[in-house]
Amino acid sequence: MSDHNQVDITEMNYGSDRPKAKNPVKIMDLTLRDGHQSLFATRGRTEDMIPVAELMDDVGFWAVETWGGATFDTMHRFLNEDPWERIRTLKRYFKKTPFSMLLRAQNLVGYRNYADDVAKAFVERAAENGMDIFRTFDALNDYRNFETVVPVIKANGKHFQGCMCYTMTEPRMGGDVYGIEYFIKKAKALEDMGADSICIKDMAGLIAPYDAYQLIKALKESVKPPIHLHTHFTSGMAPMTHLKAVEAGVDMLDTCMSPYAYRTSHPAIEPMVMALLGTGRDTGFDIKKLAEINVILENEIIPKYRHLLNDTKMSVIDINVLLHQTPGGMLSNLVNQLREMDALDKLDEVFKELPRVRKELGQIPLVTPTSQIVGIQTVNNVLFDTPDERYKMITAQVKDLCYGLYGKTAIPIDPEVQKKALKGYARGEEPITCRPAEVLEPEMGKAKEDVKGLAVDLDDELIYAIYPVTGKRFLKWKYGKETPPPEVQARTLEDALAEQEMIKKAKAGLLIEKSDVKMSENARTFNVVVDGDQFEVGVDEVGDSPMLSYIKQIQSGQIQMAAPAATPAATPVAAPVATPAAAPKAAAAPASAPKAAPAPSAPVGDGTPVTAPMPGMIVSYEKKVGDSVSKGDTVVVLEAMKMENALPAPCDGTVQAINFGSGDSVAKNDVLCVIG
Ligand code: CO
Repeated sequence: MSDHNQVDITEMNYGSDRPKAKNPVKIMDLTLRDGHQSLFATRGRTEDMIPVAELMDDVGFWAVETWGGATFDTMHRFLNEDPWERIRTLKRYFKKTPFSMLLRAQNLVGYRNYADDVAKAFVERAAENGMDIFRTFDALNDYRNFETVVPVIKANGKHFQGCMCYTMTEPRMGGDVYGIEYFIKKAKALEDMGADSICIKDMAGLIAPYDAYQLIKALKESVKPPIHLHTHFTSGMAPMTHLKAVEAGVDMLDTCMSPYAYRTSHPAIEPMVMALLGTGRDTGFDIKKLAEINVILENEIIPKYRHLLNDTKMSVIDINVLLHQTPGGMLSNLVNQLREMDALDKLDEVFKELPRVRKELGQIPLVTPTSQIVGIQTVNNVLFDTPDERYKMITAQVKDLCYGLYGKTAIPIDPEVQKKALKGYARGEEPITCRPAEVLEPEMGKAKEDVKGLAVDLDDELIYAIYPVTGKRFLKWKYGKETPPPEVQARTLEDALAEQEMIKKAKAGLLIEKSDVKMSENARTFNVVVDGDQFEVGVDEVGDSPMLSYIKQIQSGQIQMAAPAATPAATPVAAPVATPAAAPKAAAAPASAPKAAPAPSAPVGDGTPVTAPMPGMIVSYEKKVGDSVSKGDTVVVLEAMKMENALPAPCDGTVQAINFGSGDSVAKNDVLCVIG
């Protein structure tokens, strides 16, 4: 390698006092954001970041990513933590290393474009609370969506990193839409906007080593700002890609501490340090210091989150990414959604429908939120379309996309789909071509009004403005107006270790079970999944096997298993989720989740029920009891997998009963309201 420092590695000190490289690769650590977002559904708690914070501050990272993406959502929704407080708390421990956040441009840290007044206030507050680098991206690579936030970032004297979402329609870089010229053009646009650095944001781990080499070389020749590569390990290519990126002259790379690395996360830092040691691109990091951090993460932190790790497969890579060019997280979302709807057998159909939907929706990159938009619509098409009608259930977000509310798509949206989506659309049936936020009315005024007496400051008001339903619920928890449910509470290391011990015993017990117990002819075998572990359970007519009774105890709450929040407790052995079966369960658990509370009072009796086609959360009812409705009118909006679904009235009539309220969680087939 021409960059070699000509240092005799055997003679040199491996510590941080070795000679400095000519052009060290700068490293951003993602452990505290994308790392746990990728591996543990963003459930990392602030208290579990503090034990390593000061040590990490000493490593010499260019920056640490601590916020943005899904953290804001998950923290207030599932962890009962104030997202703003995390920045302030961590800042007390990180005294030298700048903080970076992922900003979804005009989508901020949510899933739709917010009005300019919300966007400005949000960036202002993020900067004020301690954010230094704003890694900004737009899911459509439509930089008109940067126009509001960038001047605020700059006015606060902060670093604006402009992203190009890396996506493809072919197995390798190229093709009609996303060839090298496309990315050069985007990079030049970012440079013109004043980008302090430019990031290739490869959220799916799609970029192949030689494509990265070619692209980074071309970018270094075409634009001045430093080039930063963000890629996920998912497909297995990332460490090779990193090395080729270094050779091509990349300025910054993203890595994680090894316990938070690999799988759908990022390459680990430690092998990179060793690989570059003594070269002209040596990171200069002290590998012993990194090891010290690893011990804490591995022994004191990870056990609390292990149950969230999806490790049912032997393979740590996902070759589906290579086969379908779709982000791994999106695939696991699809699988989860299909599983919850008892339709896992439709996965192949979903794979077939997905590229078709994506193309019809303008061949958009697949990144939050467009990956969910395309994914959920694909699932809806597969489950609800009939041979003579496609796009039978169009999500609100697809309607917004067709209207132009997300921005300009890479290729035009299929006119027929667009027309169907916009039929009766509230803003108008004619799509817009201007910068999306131009058609959005200011939102802060109403938000402030809505949470008057509850919100204490602008940070509180922004939580509500960005997440009205769950944000309001969080503010009630925060100010003691409502008791947070037990599932949002932190688990201790002791609990986590005790639980792992129990699972180990259960597994061991199963082995004895199989050989020792004689089953009758009537015995049936079930596969039962407990926290990602699959048990084969034999069920006999005469009494329960110890294993089954163990599982039943878990289900009934007598033995506490950590269930990932929002996942219904039902497993394959349980009876269909009917209210009577659920009721004693809720009663047995102390302080049961408040969302299960409103008992459907009206019997379905003499009316037509509107049932939940999927598990989700009620956003709003569009009608009240006593309102008359026509067939097809939206009666209730249900949020599932973060997409809003407008559920239509199945017939003409009057609303006789409304069984839930805004913010309630519902199971598939729950009767949401009755029309008679
Ligand atoms: Co990422």
